[in-house]
Amino acid sequence: MFSGGENINSEQVLAGAAGPSPTQEFDEGMAFFRGRIMPLAEAQVSVATHALHYGTGCFEGIRAYWNEERQNLYLLKAAEHYERFQDSCRMIRITCPYTVEELVETTRALLNAGGFRCDVYIRPVAFKASRVIKLTLRELRDDLAVYAVPLGNYIDVGGLRAMVSAWARVSDNAIPARSKLTGSYVNMALASDDAHEKGYDEAILLGSDGHVSEGAGSNLFIARRGTLITPPVTADILEGITRSIVMDLAKENGIPVEERLIDRTELYVADEVFLTGTGAQIAPVTEIDGRTVGSGRRGPLVEHLQEMFFRAVRGDDPAHQDWVMAAYD
Ligand SMILES: Cc1ncc(COP(=O)(O)O)c(C=O)c1O
Repeated sequence: MFSGGENINSEQVLAGAAGPSPTQEFDEGMAFFRGRIMPLAEAQVSVATHALHYGTGCFEGIRAYWNEERQNLYLLKAAEHYERFQDSCRMIRITCPYTVEELVETTRALLNAGGFRCDVYIRPVAFKASRVIKLTLRELRDDLAVYAVPLGNYIDVGGLRAMVSAWARVSDNAIPARSKLTGSYVNMALASDDAHEKGYDEAILLGSDGHVSEGAGSNLFIARRGTLITPPVTADILEGITRSIVMDLAKENGIPVEERLIDRTELYVADEVFLTGTGAQIAPVTEIDGRTVGSGRRGPLVEHLQEMFFRAVRGDDPAHQDWVMAAYD
């Protein structure tokens, strides 16, 4: 059994998820692999695996939030993640042998087998498994795994210093950004390392047309004069599930939302900027390229969105019970 969930007070709610950081190597966790649930350490592949060499795979990232009061783990938007997973599989010519419902049920079984009592990250991955050299996506054997490990915040949710990266986001005609294809994440790793090495917390990537695309593993929003603005799905972004949660929460609360191209310099004059994602959750950016964003502190809009978000994801918002699914019966 994995534990780590204490009673969560409102300060901790704003602190995001509780648990190990994403830089820690996992030494515990459970995997579903080749039709069986097993300890993560036992789910192994060959060094000749096609996907290991050419990035010919796709993945998802799903969170499950522990609710100490209810003694249950809540999967957030699991069906939506598996729908996107199936789209990514189609993009990379992988035949997913399971329906969305089967994948959700498998995930619940995996969490039950692990008996997690803490916030958890679930990573489905499908890949070209053949030990073959040829550069192709066709006539190769596919494999699929899902693993679950304890995970806290991926990035700080209090206030980040970001830089606009010199690395451009891959364009749709190079590698489709709307799918979570394993190989394309080198793009994010290059931008992210560059930002860290220059002393920043996060990278913001521009698309090849020079407009703002997204963060390194997160979608981006700005607030200007009370309106939330986010790049459209045609701006080489991943069509983020947290992005649509934020857009729904904003609309329900009468906050206008626009999907339109964002210029780099709008980042400098925005009242607020924040990143969204399963890993990132909702993370305010308080400085970009050495310029203070808004007041230089977490702004009121993002604070309000974070409060609503962290309540809903732990299953505590009666209006959004359909966003979550209890993992334990
Ligand atoms: C490149 C990229 N953009 C955006 C996101 C945010 O998407 P979601 O909210 O569905 O996790 C992610 C994270 O999964 C990502 O990898």
